[in-house]
Amino acid sequence: MKVLLTGGAGYIGSHTCVELINAGHTPVIADNYDNSCPEAVNRIEEITGKKVPVYEIDVCDRKAVDKMFSENDFEAVIHFAGLKAVGESCEIPLRYYQNNLDSTIVLLEAMQKHGVSNFVFSSSATVYGVPETVPLVEGMPTGCTNHKDLSVVLLRYFNPIGAHESGRIGEDPNGIPNNLMPYITQVAAGKLEQLGVFGNDYPTHDGTGVRDYIHVVDLAKAHVKALDYAAQHKGTEIFNIGTGTGYSVLDIVNTFMRVNDLEIPYVIKPRRSGDIAECYANPEKAEKILGWKAEKNLDDMCRDSWNWQSQNKNGYK
Ligand code: WQD
Repeated sequence: MKVLLTGGAGYIGSHTCVELINAGHTPVIADNYDNSCPEAVNRIEEITGKKVPVYEIDVCDRKAVDKMFSENDFEAVIHFAGLKAVGESCEIPLRYYQNNLDSTIVLLEAMQKHGVSNFVFSSSATVYGVPETVPLVEGMPTGCTNHKDLSVVLLRYFNPIGAHESGRIGEDPNGIPNNLMPYITQVAAGKLEQLGVFGNDYPTHDGTGVRDYIHVVDLAKAHVKALDYAAQHKGTEIFNIGTGTGYSVLDIVNTFMRVNDLEIPYVIKPRRSGDIAECYANPEKAEKILGWKAEKNLDDMCRDSWNWQSQNKNGYK
């Protein structure tokens, strides 16, 4: 299928672009490079040997999006172009609402106008807020009820880390990383002095926050499965994309140090606003219905994250 990837030059988008090409699909990228780099597209083409057309546009720009749809007979859209840092979303919530809602509405309008009905939305486990219990299941009431002929798959990502085994694409956040793993890899690369662990007084096995870390290539492959599912089903389906295992901050630090034989100095800091104690998936629905299951383990994630960072000290810059 010819698939539009908004935010396709970003961390998850670039890895999904590679897996879509591997599965025989034809991706087109739309990205304003707000949180990504054109070099990532060169690396995708290097890994796959395939040219990937890019529209350097903001997907909130109705005119530009409409022009792009009129120039391409898209059969599906995977929408990555959203803001997603939990801490930052607590500081500038209105910017997050504006960007994430406007971009989605503009895309859905263009899809309706041009007769595109398959939509994969990169959602987030953070929609669960403070969970009553863990592991989390998809039972929360949500969905796209007013766009009846649309096939929507909502993927609730847990915590994507890792990189393509080649080390040629990976996570390249602008500025100081919000997320744990890029912060760790930049400490390992000597770009940052030490890791601040945000709180060790949570009700978890070692007091630090527990999350469900998932290898970005496993997450990318989940999108290929979601695309196939959307093409064969109408309506809305929600899937948790996680491993089903929770690891604490110190579990990640200790695994990273062991796997890469590196020291990561850290200091305990106060809790970060917006953080929760524990969040990990029940991924059974994705396995049963999408036929998808995470294959890579935490050692793979820590090894591949460092392989990317050590080969690209300044990311794509
Ligand atoms: C993980 C743990 C922090 C940085 C992310 C995305 C969100 C969604 C879920 C996909 C927490 C601790 C972090 C640091 C630390 N994903 N930490 N020091 O907040 O779970 O959310 O994954 O869409 O959009 O933002 O991930 O990596 O920021 O934090 O101690 O310097 O690491 O407190 O326990 P989070 P994170």
